[in-house]
Amino acid sequence: MCGIVGYVGEKQAANFLIDGLTKLEYRGYDSAGIAVFDGEKINVAKSVGRLAALKEKIKNNTPEGVMGIGHTRWATHGRPSDVNSHPHTDCSGKFAIVHNGIIENFMSLKEELIAKGHKFVSETDTEVVAHLIEDVYEGDFVEAVNKVLNRIEGSYSLAFMCQDYPDTLICTKKDNPLVIGLGEGENFIASDIPAIIAYTRRTYIMNDGEIAVVKKDSIWVTDRKGNPITKKVFEVNWNAEAAEKGGYEHFMLKEIHEQPKAVRDTISPRINKENTQVVLDELKWTKEYVENFNKIYIVACGTAYHAGLVGKYYIEKLARIPVEIDIASEFRYRDPIIDEHTLTIVISQSGETSDTLAALKESKRLGAKTLAITNVVGSSIAREADQVMYTWAGPEIAVASTKAYTTQLVTMFLFAMYVSGLKGTITTERTHELLTQLRLLPDEINRTLEDVEPIKTFAKNYAFNNDVFYIGRSLDYNVALEGSLKLKEISYIHAEAYAAGELKHGTLALIESGVPVIALATQKSVYEKTLSNIKEVKARDAVMIGIAAEDDNELEKYVDHVIKVPATDELLIPLLTVVPLQLLAYYAAITRGCDVDKPRNLAKSVTVE
Ligand code: F6R
Repeated sequence: MCGIVGYVGEKQAANFLIDGLTKLEYRGYDSAGIAVFDGEKINVAKSVGRLAALKEKIKNNTPEGVMGIGHTRWATHGRPSDVNSHPHTDCSGKFAIVHNGIIENFMSLKEELIAKGHKFVSETDTEVVAHLIEDVYEGDFVEAVNKVLNRIEGSYSLAFMCQDYPDTLICTKKDNPLVIGLGEGENFIASDIPAIIAYTRRTYIMNDGEIAVVKKDSIWVTDRKGNPITKKVFEVNWNAEAAEKGGYEHFMLKEIHEQPKAVRDTISPRINKENTQVVLDELKWTKEYVENFNKIYIVACGTAYHAGLVGKYYIEKLARIPVEIDIASEFRYRDPIIDEHTLTIVISQSGETSDTLAALKESKRLGAKTLAITNVVGSSIAREADQVMYTWAGPEIAVASTKAYTTQLVTMFLFAMYVSGLKGTITTERTHELLTQLRLLPDEINRTLEDVEPIKTFAKNYAFNNDVFYIGRSLDYNVALEGSLKLKEISYIHAEAYAAGELKHGTLALIESGVPVIALATQKSVYEKTLSNIKEVKARDAVMIGIAAEDDNELEKYVDHVIKVPATDELLIPLLTVVPLQLLAYYAAITRGCDVDKPRNLAKSVTVE
């Protein structure tokens, strides 16, 4: 996730660009840049660090001109640095572009362009777009943009500037947001409404495949074939704060709703078109390399640890390598048994959690190979690990982790599938079946998000209970742990998760009339056993809420309410069952009047031991 802006009008473009980027910093903040056309040439200023660093850099020599584009970056390909910051230009400096998204086929395009003599200066995927437009340009700006779009694969919102067209910006999008703000004698481009709300409330919301030619007095929108499109003006009636949250009341709710996109972005560059193979360009491992490992450690904290529990299950089930999982603050004090045949995987959204970083360093010291799964390019953990798999969730702002968790799950799944493919522990048919199901997940998460009313009602009814229990077996138990953590941390209700078979070894003593118990029952191999445990709890008069797949017609006979999620392979269903649990925690916290995005005593990134 990054933020892009553009301005064409009569005023100094840099003023809007910097102001607009300030409002988009929540979309990424590891570097920023602007490009302004001064009538003769495009001048670019960019800087690693927060926007303040760019402001400082241009304080005494702000690029002048009435047309420009800008970018605030959340690094994907290439660490945060001055050269990797946008805007990017071609060899001649005729074009400048800003991009939000991922160009999936950038490597092959880059090789092709290098062979033609193009000189690349950055490590980014985006720079190929600047060189590609230079390569295909024959004097017609729109035609050149179209040719670029014919070649690139992935997700994008893009804004282009060309020296031959001193009054024209072109922008387009696929799978990433883009709005155009309609002004008087000026027009604006932005990734999101907060950037433009102080300038205009009249907007065009751009759709995938639309191309807009934006001048100060006109906006011409067409489809990819050049057919004109009449856009409806969308009048923004949110205030600036609500706009930043995309109209949602809290970042947490926004991020819960961003999960389909975050999961899609994490999956799609890593599976081939036929759904027969996981392709991890970031690892490029061989069968021999994988077979060197006789043990894997997964180490993480909190929600990331819960994702690790699911990861352990995936790796053991699919790749048949023994996995030990540890809480990072425990790991290095227990003298772990590590040698050169050990792989340590650390999971961390922020990439800065000090316990996880310390565990990673300790593993390396003892001779393990290390792999980081993190959301932040260039973070300490990403830099320290031998190899990195990024989750493409975009910045997570709410303290309670949601989209980071689901993207960590799919990343672990992709890793397990990749290793099992190399080791030959999975059949071709099963690979195809699982990857086909995996591709459907973003839409299924969307469907899960549509059915919130029962969850809201339940949250309202039980938000003032002192205790809530979560039970499940196998993967359901792992998701139960995450559900109970979400409830605790944002609603301050005491919640515990138990392996359903474990209750009768002590905890059942706590179950009395009216205590809410949330039971997950999606795992076929232990389904009957889970039902028996549910009956044991129901017999103590608990209020039972079941979470089941939509093809389950049994569970409703034994519980008071059922929340259904789309049916998918039981390995993947945690990606769906966690969603109602996130929403349940959210609505319970709202009902209790808690500060959802900033729960008491907690911080987003824990950099102390
Ligand atoms: C809970 C939550 C925390 C983090 C934990 C690790 O919602 O967000 O439990 O998961 O502090 O943080 P990272 O993943 O940044 O290492």
